[in-house]
Amino acid sequence: MSIQLFDVARIRADFPILQREAHPGVLLVYLDSTATAQKPQQVIDAMDEFYRRTNANIHRGIHVLAEEATAAYEEARAKIARFIGATDANEVVYTRNTTESINLVAHTWGRRNLQAGDVILLTEMEHHSNLVPWQILAAEKNLRLEFIPVTEDGLLDLKAAFRLIDELRPKLVAFTHMSNVLGTINPAAKIIAAAHAIGAVTLLDGAQSVPHLPVNVQTLDVDFLAFSAHKMCGPTGVGALYGKMALLEAMPPFLGGGDMIKKVELRSFRVNDVPHKFEAGTPAIAEAIGFGAAVDYLQSIGMTAIEQHEQQLIAYALERLAEVPGLRVFGPQAQHKGGVASFAFQGIHPHDIAQVLDAEGIAVRAGHHCAMPLHNKFNILATTRASFYLYNTHDEVDRLIAGLYKVKEIFG
Ligand code: ALA
Repeated sequence: MSIQLFDVARIRADFPILQREAHPGVLLVYLDSTATAQKPQQVIDAMDEFYRRTNANIHRGIHVLAEEATAAYEEARAKIARFIGATDANEVVYTRNTTESINLVAHTWGRRNLQAGDVILLTEMEHHSNLVPWQILAAEKNLRLEFIPVTEDGLLDLKAAFRLIDELRPKLVAFTHMSNVLGTINPAAKIIAAAHAIGAVTLLDGAQSVPHLPVNVQTLDVDFLAFSAHKMCGPTGVGALYGKMALLEAMPPFLGGGDMIKKVELRSFRVNDVPHKFEAGTPAIAEAIGFGAAVDYLQSIGMTAIEQHEQQLIAYALERLAEVPGLRVFGPQAQHKGGVASFAFQGIHPHDIAQVLDAEGIAVRAGHHCAMPLHNKFNILATTRASFYLYNTHDEVDRLIAGLYKVKEIFG
């Protein structure tokens, strides 16, 4: 689909929530998709249909509902695998979200493979989800955490990255594909290749990239990829961990309980095969099916078309934001980033900005966006963030800019 054929009006019609008013007489402008994306009717219908017609537990019963539920759950796994270019659906483990996917790797692969003194290389732009699990493990096992620096422009310092990889010889290089604050899209394939050249394992936080760009695990050659359904038009409560089969097979289980076992005796158990080994207990079945429907929906529009639409929007937004006197915008130029713009007015609290925008019907996020060290790096406590997705329009960017002028008017 070419940019010209990207029909935002048709896409918006799929999202019932976008038809609502934020306040009486004020139409909603939703610019908080980086926190969670809105859901199209197709996803809502898939989950509704599951509860109306199929609801049963999976991998357990032999009645018709249980068989249909199991088939739908596994079919969704296969769709998610195809969406990220994995050839084996069993390389996709369902989790609750990106955070749980990264914790799973820390608890299982990390605990088994890392020893005192080993280095984990992260970056200064990580979400807390890709920091705290490693801090916990580092404290437990006496590991060293090191960081690829972020430049003033909000890019990763690639020279430093390659030097740190060569000098520190980390066992794991774990980094975000796209920053949830700066929008920076990192050159993942280059960093992964450099990490592999010294024998490191790689983990990519794809929470922001998988929903917005074509991401292919084979082209990237990444070892682990973590992402969430709710940021890609799917429901909350389900996410995925992709892992290369040899790594997943060698990892111990994560949680213990039903479905993750082949055999249990009073004092011992034998684990199930991958991916069930990592999926203890009744999972989020309807949500997994909704995840599959979200993938179908995004694919029907095309990830390249979505990426191009957001590129146009962010380029326009950055241009317009630059016109607002006294506004500081964080992060690189449009060609290096996805649809995320974080900004600050000197002397006006980001929460006040968000509140004035909310009164105008514009939903943005204010705070540290779960990236306190990155905000410290820029000597700022918090920012206000507008983020865009396939359903946003140039008119909505204009409404954001008008809202920011209102902020200036109120706070001087
Ligand atoms: N990670 C989500 C955000 O950036 C919650 O808002």
